[in-house]
Amino acid sequence: GPKNKYQGLHMVVTAGPTQEPLDPVRYFTNHSSGKMGFAIARAAAEQGADVTLVSGPVNLTPPPGVELIRVTTAEEMYRAVMDAYPKADLVIKAAAVADYRPATVHGQKMKKGGEMAIPLVRNPDILAELGKKKENQILVGFAAETENLQENATGKLDRKNLDMIVANDLTMAGAGFKADTNIVRLYFRDGTEKELPLMTKDEVARQILHEATQLLTKQ
Ligand code: PMT
Repeated sequence: GPKNKYQGLHMVVTAGPTQEPLDPVRYFTNHSSGKMGFAIARAAAEQGADVTLVSGPVNLTPPPGVELIRVTTAEEMYRAVMDAYPKADLVIKAAAVADYRPATVHGQKMKKGGEMAIPLVRNPDILAELGKKKENQILVGFAAETENLQENATGKLDRKNLDMIVANDLTMAGAGFKADTNIVRLYFRDGTEKELPLMTKDEVARQILHEATQLLTKQ
C-alpha cells in the first residue's frame, strides 16, 4: 500500500553539520541546517522504513518513528554510523562533515594576542570507510560543489565506492544549504545521470529514495 512502500528496509541517514571544538567557547562548522537529511529520514519512515538518523547539531523536530542519534563531532558521527552499518540495507549521507578539526582542543578559552594560525588535522572520511567495508549495502553520498559539479561529484562516486551521488550546485539560487528547496543531479555508478528541477527538499528526498531503492532491487 501507499504507506508501506519501504517496509522491512533498514536505513541509516546522516544529516546536519559537525562541530569541531577549538576551546570551551569556539568551534569550526558549516552552514548545514539538517533539512535535507531530515527530509530523507521523514520520507522513508512515512513509507514504513526502519530509519536510524545520525545528526549533527540542528534545530529541527525529529521525524516521527525515526531513531535519532545526536552527535557533535565528525569522530562521533563516524562511530555512530559504523555501529549502525552492519544491519543497514541503504545508507544516505546528507551530512556536511567537517574534513578537518583543530589538532588541539584547548582546555581553557584561548587568549588573544597577535596573529594566530590554528593547526588542523584530518577527520575520518566516513563515506570512504563505508565504501571500503561495503558488502550488500547501497551507498548514497552527497556532493556540495561550487565548481566543476559533474567532475567533482563523479570523482567522489568512484573514489568512495558509491552506488549513487546526489550533487548540489551551491552557486544556484534555491539549492544547497538552509533553503527548503534544492536543485540536484543524480549520478549513478553505471555512468548514467538524472537532472532534477528545483523542488522542495521533501520532494527531492522522495526522488532519492525511489532511485536508491531501485538500485537495491537490481543487485
Ligand atoms: O542541511 P541542509 O541545510 O538542508 O543542506 C543540505 C546539504 C547541502 C548539506 C546537503 O544537500 C549536502 O550536499 N550534503 C553533503 C555536503 C558535503 O559535505 O559534501 P562533501 O562534498 O564535502 O562530502 C561528500 C560526501 O562525503 C557527503 O556525502 C559527506 O556526508 C561525506 N563525507 C565527507 C567528509 C567526511 N569526513 N566524511 C564524510 O562522510
